[in-house]
Amino acid sequence: MFIGPKAENTELLRSHINRLLEHHAEWRQSYHPDDKPLGSSLTDGFKAKLESAFNELLSRHDKNLPYFHPRYNAQMLKDPPITAILGYLAFMMSNPNNHAYEGGPVTTDMEMEVTRTLLDLCGYMDGWGHLASGGSLANLEALWAVREKYKGGGVYFSEVSHYSWKRICNILGIQYFTEVPVDENFRIDLDLLEKDLKKKKTLMVIGNIGSTGTGSVDDLEGLLLLKDRYGFHLHLDAAYGGFARSCILDKHYEVMPQGSTGIKSVHLYRQLELIAESDSITIDPHKHGLLPYGAGAVLYKDQNLRDMILNTAPYTYHQLDKPNIGMFSLEGSRPGAMAAACWLTYKVMPPNSKGVGVIVQKCLDQADYFHRSIEKSDYLANFNKPDLDINTFYFRDDEYMRAHVISKKTLEIYHEFSVENPDAPFILSKFVTPPHIAKRAHRGLRFDDKENFTAMRAVFMKPWGEMKNYYYLRMLLDSLNEFCAKL
Ligand SMILES: Cc1ncc(COP(=O)(O)O)c(C=O)c1O
Repeated sequence: MFIGPKAENTELLRSHINRLLEHHAEWRQSYHPDDKPLGSSLTDGFKAKLESAFNELLSRHDKNLPYFHPRYNAQMLKDPPITAILGYLAFMMSNPNNHAYEGGPVTTDMEMEVTRTLLDLCGYMDGWGHLASGGSLANLEALWAVREKYKGGGVYFSEVSHYSWKRICNILGIQYFTEVPVDENFRIDLDLLEKDLKKKKTLMVIGNIGSTGTGSVDDLEGLLLLKDRYGFHLHLDAAYGGFARSCILDKHYEVMPQGSTGIKSVHLYRQLELIAESDSITIDPHKHGLLPYGAGAVLYKDQNLRDMILNTAPYTYHQLDKPNIGMFSLEGSRPGAMAAACWLTYKVMPPNSKGVGVIVQKCLDQADYFHRSIEKSDYLANFNKPDLDINTFYFRDDEYMRAHVISKKTLEIYHEFSVENPDAPFILSKFVTPPHIAKRAHRGLRFDDKENFTAMRAVFMKPWGEMKNYYYLRMLLDSLNEFCAKL
């Protein structure tokens, strides 16, 4: 499915790109075939300019970071599959725009099919949704639509939620929003949330299915109980982790018993099952849904919510018997090419346990393997127990547990194992938390001052680390332990 860390599948991609180019050229030529060609007016000067700019582009290309490689596990960056490249390229060359049906009839139909697949993935029988440029925009649109429907009330999300939520509340003029503290697993603290819910009418509570820092998955069972008790719109920010639900679905998108899946954690299995009970969801194909950047999605269980943000204009949306997605979305122009990229990818790799789930499962297995290995390490300690595939860990100091000493040593690991080191054996990132959050996760940590706590962070969102009996992951662990032994 991928070009591969060593470009193993280049030939497959090349042959399809060649076919695509020929097909595209023939398609152009077949439109009013009797029209006279205008001929090419490329001058030598233009060709020379292109050549020189293209050479510069290629040399800049090589300075790009190796996101495709199993040695890169720093941020949510990964390798797009061949299907996404082909799907995007195929339609980018003709450039449809999915805001109105007439701007992209073929790709709008594809987007509607992709949306139906995403609704199936999330267990929404009916509903509405569409692609967005990313998770932040999807979050913004969801809260906007809900605010328009219910007018007023508080908004609650955990203190480890994505930064977009605070911005969105500011943009939408939400007067009362609260960042609820998390428990020792970086999940929203339900008792503290309930105290807040008692105080005021609530508009929306946001549950995380994969928080950005540690991939924590909130307790949906608890959130649903509170929803019954206090009545609010439950939105899930499943931008990162929503596609993990593909691991528990059979090819008909029915939930399988846990024993028939590879999911080891009862907590994770249960929350993935309960995603279907939410009211709306942000889920990003451009994170675990395999697509390159530019593909978020928002889904609403109640189709009527879209009418809250209905938009018309005198110069567009003329075919009213067809889906005009832009009438119901915050964004205007959106690339039809991205719908095609999603469509081809999910035709080949559907978001269930036969497709995307195979890949996500490998990522979850890596995180589990890594966590268990760190538990046995003399030099490193786990900071979180991953719900998904993001691990945080720090330099082990069982005796004194002085936060600033641990942070200092951990920063030395970061200098070696990060983008800061051009010769880094592996590239990871760091996770910096204020003392009150760090202490909650690790009660034993001793803070002398108000300095933030630094842990290392590894995002295992590519499948390669699991392959060949965790070959790359074992190499990473060996190099981390070797480095720490010298600290
Ligand atoms: C949980 C979560 N929500 C929302 C977002 C925002 O997504 P985007 O960067 O696509 O706007 C992210 C991004 O990392 C995320 O992790």
